[in-house]
Amino acid sequence: MKNQENFILAIESSCDDTSAAVLCNKKVLSNVVATQEIHQKYGGVVPELASRAHQQNIVPVVHQALAQANIDKKQLSAIAFTRGPGLMGSLLVGTSFAKSLSLGLAIPLIEVNHMQAHILAHFIEDREQESPDFPFLAMTISGGHTQIVLVKSYFEMEIIGETLDDAVGEAFDKSAKLLGLPYPGGPLIDKYAKLGTEKAFEFPKPKVDGLNFSFSGLKTSILYFIQKKTKENSEFINENLADICASIQFTILEILMDKLKLAVKQTGVKRIALGGGVAANSGIRSRLANAEEEFGWKTYIPKFEYCTDNAAMIGVVGYFKFLEKDFAEQNIAAKARYKLSS
Ligand code: KG4
Ligand code: ZN
Repeated sequence: MKNQENFILAIESSCDDTSAAVLCNKKVLSNVVATQEIHQKYGGVVPELASRAHQQNIVPVVHQALAQANIDKKQLSAIAFTRGPGLMGSLLVGTSFAKSLSLGLAIPLIEVNHMQAHILAHFIEDREQESPDFPFLAMTISGGHTQIVLVKSYFEMEIIGETLDDAVGEAFDKSAKLLGLPYPGGPLIDKYAKLGTEKAFEFPKPKVDGLNFSFSGLKTSILYFIQKKTKENSEFINENLADICASIQFTILEILMDKLKLAVKQTGVKRIALGGGVAANSGIRSRLANAEEEFGWKTYIPKFEYCTDNAAMIGVVGYFKFLEKDFAEQNIAAKARYKLSS
């Protein structure tokens, strides 16, 4: 199977993006993502609305993915889908769809862990990205996840640190909300931070032992800071937006870099692979680029479309599992809490 052309259809519906991709082995032929705009006006993802939007999007998104890849469904070798972790109502849509289609086409069904997929996105074959050698450290940072994983092979992964409360993307988005910025506020903090001074204001870094993270205290300290300052001057946010954003981003980046340095020290592994939507942040990108010279690390950041939630990363895991003939049964169920394990 390794030397032949295997076409995998992959489906991702764990949160608020409905995505379908077609891969030929590790190569992406199409990767269609329908982002749900509806959540913007609520300032965050509303699970029930996400599930309904997935139901509307899934058929057109799959059709588009097949059409763009110029592949007929009869040519497919297998169907891979995100089993979890994620929002149950959202996962159910992709899971049910994948199960029915695999039954209808009589081709194997492959279940995929979304967190494993964020990591193996580095193995998508693409001229614009390089794959890390094993072992490497993967830091997955998004709106739903914050983890440091020691990756020993495609299937052997050990979580060595994770958040005890909010994800790093949530820390960005909740801070932005306190500043009156629209959802998702992470990219806006990044944008304004470029115009400000990173040490203009000081926020405390959480004291969490080992490689775990905590971001909820930061959010509270920003809230108190804003309340105090706007009491003194109602225009405080408007007058200092760039400096506040730069200081918040600086604090978050310090937290991430401190933990990465500790992870490198503990494991002796200096290959660092980033993933998840927050990997789009210009600050973390330049910190990692500098770390190559400063600490002798080798760093990897996938193309942006493979960092945010997408089906191509599900497809590449699907391909590796296809080679192992690691297929799922028809009675498989979605799993909202699905731990990454070796
Ligand atoms: O991976 P993703 O698209 O969705 C999941 O949460 O799984 O990540 C979205 C998160 C949001 O919290 C968003 O604010 C954050 O990534 N984000 C950023 C940037 N771009 C996206 N955070 C900081 N700086 C950015 N440039
Ligand atoms: Zn994700």
